[in-house]
Amino acid sequence: MNEEITEIMEGSTKLLVPKGSMTERVPPKEPAFFNPRASLSRDLSIIACSAFWKSFEFPKIFFDGLSGLGARGLRVANEVKGTEKVIINDVNADALEIASESAKINNLENFEISEDETCRFLSSHSKKNSRASIVDIDPFGSPSRYIDCAIRATMHGGMLALTATDLQVLHGLFNKAAKRRYYGTPIKTEFSNEIAIRLIIGCVSFVAGRLDISFQPLFVDHDMHYYRTYLRILNTPDQEENIGYIMFCRKCKDRYSDTSRKTKCRKCNHETEIAGPLWIGKLFEKEFVAKMKDVKKDLLVHKRCDKILDRSEVEAELPATYYTLDEIASKMNSAPLKLSNAISRLESNGYKASMTSLNPSGFRTDCEIDEIIRIFQS
Ligand SMILES: C[S@@+](CC[C@H](N)C(=O)[O-])C[C@H]1O[C@@H](n2cnc3c(N)ncnc32)[C@H](O)[C@@H]1O
Ligand SMILES: [Zn+2]
Repeated sequence: MNEEITEIMEGSTKLLVPKGSMTERVPPKEPAFFNPRASLSRDLSIIACSAFWKSFEFPKIFFDGLSGLGARGLRVANEVKGTEKVIINDVNADALEIASESAKINNLENFEISEDETCRFLSSHSKKNSRASIVDIDPFGSPSRYIDCAIRATMHGGMLALTATDLQVLHGLFNKAAKRRYYGTPIKTEFSNEIAIRLIIGCVSFVAGRLDISFQPLFVDHDMHYYRTYLRILNTPDQEENIGYIMFCRKCKDRYSDTSRKTKCRKCNHETEIAGPLWIGKLFEKEFVAKMKDVKKDLLVHKRCDKILDRSEVEAELPATYYTLDEIASKMNSAPLKLSNAISRLESNGYKASMTSLNPSGFRTDCEIDEIIRIFQS
């Protein structure tokens, strides 16, 4: 196996990875899966864990339920200050052997390995005092089958991070599968990535509700190939109603969220397209994102994280569903405005407006479509 392995550096951690994963377009699953293009997501993970554990008074224990060769867990153990214990778990013994060698070359003493099926591993840590304060789930495809046991293995006040890569399902190509996995269905829009994230969190909400658990979304991110959500898990039932629908009118481009379905457009009476049921509450906690920005200064991470965090912070308290400049421009039959210009026009008319981390030409606002068009035309 050794001739197939090479050493790389990600963040400040040395990782042993299969040579093929660095050269092939689709990283091979044998002997172990490693995707170098997911380094941005791992960077954001390191930032999120550092922010979460900053002034955290409970044990700093991290479980990686589907670790592959351990890239994320190794980086947490090595780069996140004060990490007491990381346990990585996978069914692939070869991947775990590589992880164990990586732990040695990084001189890690806070790093353990478990070879088990994810739900069995997490269930063996579901009792009080055996749970982790951060649990990470990064499967091939949908995380939905792991949500229940991942919640049970996360301590009260801990953080659960979930990745989803079943983009075709989340983007509306297979609605039966979406309903099965996430209990809700998407619609195809310019802001499909936000709908995808809200479906994932919606699914967590349904599962958590059953367990009398609630949560607060802290941060979400996405790239071409994945969605990720970070949630603070609380041992108390949810008091707020955060499940609902997103209504979209393809004719006038109106969009909004509500706890009930509205089949006619509130602006033009055209039939609406409806996504859900899904999460309609906040996606970001502003203070948490500010903390991420603060801890980032001491970490070796991608420059792109800056922009993502800046945008996440400004959009944190704005309404669900964003607009894109191109979409509005085509509705107005004119060239798109500059993003900064669009936002300042909305603000000078008394509305809230911000960029969004989910789309480079997207903006959030509490202004509705007819008024947006009036302001952009004036
Ligand atoms: C997407 S990869 C993990 C990548 C890793 N988190 C990283 O950042 O490099 C998914 C991993 O899940 C493992 N896996 C799939 N199903 C599993 C199961 N039911 N129990 C345990 N591991 C599983 C696979 O062997 C694979 O290594
Ligand atoms: Zn309409």
